[in-house]
Amino acid sequence: MKVVQTRDGSFTCFSEEFKELYHARNGALEEAFEKYIKPCKIKDNYKILDIGFGLGYNSAAALHKFKNLKIIGLEKDKNILKQIPKMELPKYFQNTFKIIKQVSKTLHYKNSSEIKIIIGDASKTIKDITEKFDAVFLDPFNFKTNQELWSLSFIKEIKKRMKPSSILSTYSSAAPVRKTLQEAGFNITEGPKVGSYCTLASINLPFKLQEKNQKIVDVFGEVIN
Ligand SMILES: C[S@@+](CC[C@H](N)C(=O)[O-])C[C@H]1O[C@@H](n2cnc3c(N)ncnc32)[C@H](O)[C@@H]1O
Repeated sequence: MKVVQTRDGSFTCFSEEFKELYHARNGALEEAFEKYIKPCKIKDNYKILDIGFGLGYNSAAALHKFKNLKIIGLEKDKNILKQIPKMELPKYFQNTFKIIKQVSKTLHYKNSSEIKIIIGDASKTIKDITEKFDAVFLDPFNFKTNQELWSLSFIKEIKKRMKPSSILSTYSSAAPVRKTLQEAGFNITEGPKVGSYCTLASINLPFKLQEKNQKIVDVFGEVIN
C-alpha cells in the first residue's frame, strides 16, 4: 500500500480500492484533532465509537489527550491495521501511538483506557453493539464509493447508539450526507473549517445549519440509501 506524507508531517495511505487517501492532504493528525476530537468535545471517561478506524489516528488523538476512555473501532479491512506500525509520527505522539500499534495486532487494549476493534462490515457489526456512546467519529471514504456507511439505515443504527446530547462528527459537508443525517432525525450544524467544513450531528443539541447551507441541502441533497 502506498504511504503518503501529509502537510503536517504525519503519514497516511492511499486506498487502491477506493482510489482515495485515508486523510486530507493538509494533515492526518491535524484532521484527527480538529475534525473529531475538538468538535466532539471529548472528555475523560467518554465512550467513543470510531467508524472507519483505518490507521487509528482519530482514536489515538483521543487517547493522547484524555484518560479512562472506552473506544470501539469498526473496521472492515485487516490489512490497513498492518500498515499502522509503518507510520512515522512526531515524537510527542509516539507513546500514544504505541497503544494503537498494540491494538492493531491484538484488537484490544486495556489500561486506564480501553480500546477494542471489531473487524467486519460496520453496517453489520454495529448491530451487535449494545452500549450508548458519548461521541461518534464517522470517517468512511466518500459517500459515492463507500455508500453503506452513509446510508439512512446505517445512520439510524448509529443514532440508536448515541445519547441525547452526544455529538457525531464527520469530515463530509456533502449535501446528500447532510440530508441523510437530517432524515434520520439528527439536528446538524457546520463543524470547523479545516481544509473543508465538516458536519456535526446530535439528537438533542440545538444544532442548526446556516440558512444558505440548509438551502443547498434542500435543493441538492438526496437521501443515501
Ligand atoms: C477514510 S478511511 C479512515 C481513516 C481513519 N479514521 C484513520 O484515522 O486512519 C475509511 C476507513 O473505513 C473503512 N471502511 C470502509 N467501508 C467499511 C465498512 N463497510 N465497514 C467497516 N469499515 C469500512 C476503510 O477500510 C478505511 O479504513
